[in-house]
Amino acid sequence: MAAAAAGDAESVAALLSAGAPWHELDEDGCCAGEYASGSGHVEVVRQLLDWAERATYRDGQLVDAEGEAVMMTWEAPLMREHARILCAAKGRAARVLNVGFGLGIIDGYIAELAPARHTIVEAHPDVLAHMAARGWTHRPGVSVVPGRWQDVIADLGPFDGVFFDTYGEYAEDMREFHAHLPRLLSPGGVYSFFNGLCPDNIFFNMVQGEVVKLELARRVQGGEGLGLETQYRAMPMDTSDGSIWKGIRNRYWHLPVYMVPTCTLKA
Ligand SMILES: C[S@@+](CC[C@H](N)C(=O)[O-])C[C@H]1O[C@@H](n2cnc3c(N)ncnc32)[C@H](O)[C@@H]1O
Repeated sequence: MAAAAAGDAESVAALLSAGAPWHELDEDGCCAGEYASGSGHVEVVRQLLDWAERATYRDGQLVDAEGEAVMMTWEAPLMREHARILCAAKGRAARVLNVGFGLGIIDGYIAELAPARHTIVEAHPDVLAHMAARGWTHRPGVSVVPGRWQDVIADLGPFDGVFFDTYGEYAEDMREFHAHLPRLLSPGGVYSFFNGLCPDNIFFNMVQGEVVKLELARRVQGGEGLGLETQYRAMPMDTSDGSIWKGIRNRYWHLPVYMVPTCTLKA
C-alpha cells in the first residue's frame, strides 16, 4: 500500500513479482490501486490494472491473476465434440467462427477438420501473444480477429458454425451475443457454446439450459426473433480426480455430465 501511495513503481513491481496480492485490502478496506489513484500515480494504477488482467499459461492451463482457471485441458473431449458439431453439416466447406481462444483446444480440433474458413475472435493481449507465438496468426485458412467480440462482431459473418466460450462474462453478455446469431449464421447454420451454466448443480444446469433454449427459439414481438432450435446431448464427464484441480483456486466443474448444445438456425 505504501509503495502504491508513494508512486514507487519499482517497489510495486518487486512486491507483485514476489507474490503480494494486488487485490489485498488493508484495515481501512482500501487496496493498492485506490491508494495509487488517490495520489494521482497513473503509472502505478496502470501497472496494477495490467497485473490484475494478467492471463498466464501454466502446466497446460490458462489461469488469471487470482489463480482462477480460465481454461483447463480436462475440457478437451468436450471441445472435440463442439468442433465436430460446428463442422458436421458442411465438412471442409464450412466457415467456422470461434469466440475465445483460451488454450486453443477447440481451435486445434477445428483445424484438424480443415474447414474452408476458420475465424477466431480473442480479446486478451497475453492470449493474442501466445497465439502469435504458436503461429495461429499465419495459419492458412485461419483469421485471428483481435478485440472484444462486442467491438468486432458486426463486421463478421456469415458462418456455418459458431462457438462461444468467453470467460469472466455474464449471462447478459451471452444474451447480447445471441442477438447477433440470426445475422451471423447462414441458413441451417449451427451454434454451440460452452455449457457452464450453473455448473454446481445438475438440475439448475438443466433448467438454465432450457431458459437459453427458449431464448434462442423466441420470436420477438414485431420482429423475426432468433429462431434457433436447440438440442442437448449428455456427455459423461468425470472431474472428481483431485489432481485435475491441483493449484487451481476454485474447482469450477462438479457435474457428472456435460450437456452439449447444438442450436440450429432454421433454414
Ligand atoms: C475459457 S477460454 C476459451 C477456451 C477455448 N474454448 C479452448 O478450447 O481453449 C475464454 C477465452 O475468451 C476470451 N475472452 C473473454 N472475453 C472476451 C470477449 N469479450 N471477446 C473476445 N474474447 C474474450 C478470454 O481472453 C479467453 O481467452
